[in-house]
Amino acid sequence: MAIRLGDIAPDFTQESTEGKINLYNYLGDSWGILFSHPKDFTPVCTTELGEVAKLKPEFDKRNVKVIGLSVDATESHQEWVEDINETQNTTINYPIVADSDRKVASLYDMVHPYEDDTATVRSVFVIKPDRTVALTITYPASTGRNFEEILRVIDSLQLTANYSVATPVNWKNGDDVVIAPALQDEDDLKKRFPNGYTAIRPYLRITQQPNLNIESVN
Ligand code: BEZ
Repeated sequence: MAIRLGDIAPDFTQESTEGKINLYNYLGDSWGILFSHPKDFTPVCTTELGEVAKLKPEFDKRNVKVIGLSVDATESHQEWVEDINETQNTTINYPIVADSDRKVASLYDMVHPYEDDTATVRSVFVIKPDRTVALTITYPASTGRNFEEILRVIDSLQLTANYSVATPVNWKNGDDVVIAPALQDEDDLKKRFPNGYTAIRPYLRITQQPNLNIESVN
């Protein structure tokens, strides 16, 4: 079954590069990102896993726990991690699930048989602290993901989870946002957006990002 936005992220316990891992225990009260890799010792995955290790402080800042997955065994992962560290000039600093029985891949519908009937596609799941799935992305094996874009979406998700705003086209942290159409009460709007807003149309109201002076939106 495909995972849809708003579904509860399926829990699992599986081997990983950091020993047996249970998803819910690992996430605790944090946000999470689970991302899959077709198989070990492949070039695109090697670059992605290295990049995510370098971006770990950015995920930490946003209270997001990172967990990778590939459908090979722990021993293979351990050898591959040495290669990743050496070639990408980094140190892998998050667990990589060893999903050799494809238990997690199957729970999260990560194997798309018309693409490849054994390896996973490049799936991304962002999981909120209430365990619901807030974002899914699916890339083919041959295209590396843009993790700056994933961070940007997490910024948007965390902003919209905390304020009644949405983020317009190409938005990035610090840019103006749009007010949710459901907010109509003028007194309420004044309280929520003390710097005011510009109504270009009744349904298109622009305001300053509400948490601009706050270190973390979460
Ligand atoms: C890679 O990670 O480089 C890759 C994996 C499977 C197919 C193509 C590329």
